Amino acid sequence: MKLNPLSLASLILLLVSPSIEWVGSTSTPTPLPWPEQFHALLYMNLSSSRLQMSDLWYDWPRGRNVNIFQKQLGELLYDIEWNNGTSFYYTLGAQGTCRVTEFEVGIPRPDFLDDANYLGTTVTDGFYCNVWEKVDFIWYYEDVQTRRPVRWDFYDGISTHVITFEVGAVLQDSLSQAPAYCFSQESEKL
Ligand SMILES: *[C@@H]1O[C@H](CO)[C@@H](O)[C@H](O)[C@H]1NC(C)=O
Ligand SMILES: *[C@@H]1O[C@H](CO)[C@@H](O)[C@H](O)[C@H]1NC(C)=O
Repeated sequence: MKLNPLSLASLILLLVSPSIEWVGSTSTPTPLPWPEQFHALLYMNLSSSRLQMSDLWYDWPRGRNVNIFQKQLGELLYDIEWNNGTSFYYTLGAQGTCRVTEFEVGIPRPDFLDDANYLGTTVTDGFYCNVWEKVDFIWYYEDVQTRRPVRWDFYDGISTHVITFEVGAVLQDSLSQAPAYCFSQESEKL
């Protein structure tokens, strides 16, 4: 076979960068793994139709997943999840409360969406997205062009919409330190 220089160049490009998407490619899209560290501002509609904002600080290297929930016209709730399975839910201030829970599993891995089932494309929140579903637990929408997450829905009716997505942002350690009153009580095993 005689290759002209142009097709030789594209062959080399294909070999060195297999991730390039070719027009007309029929391979099934897969979700981009989560960046190892990011901050996202989330708008959440709970199954009760109550609304909340959340600052999500995902940090795989530190083994930490933080959600700071601002409930609509309500309390500010800290949810600090560690990869060893311990989670702290607390509020601050004079009436501060804390609940400590032990889970069997740690925080989601960056590739937690591997093996999700591809469902096709749709427009959600005004963005053209690929959609996947995993084990009837999560429905995940990713912008086709930028590959940023746009929305995810959980089986229990909680719908989460991504307002900002800052790759590489890291929460100050001092803001993920549970207050002293979290350590003077029994933890709940789940
Ligand atoms: C929240 O979700 C419920 C159920 O899907 C829907 O009826 C309601 O309009 C949503 N509220 C907002 C503010 O998006
Ligand atoms: C898990 O890590 C956190 C943060 O370092 C710590 O407070 C907690 O006690 C640890 N849990 C267990 C079961 O070791």
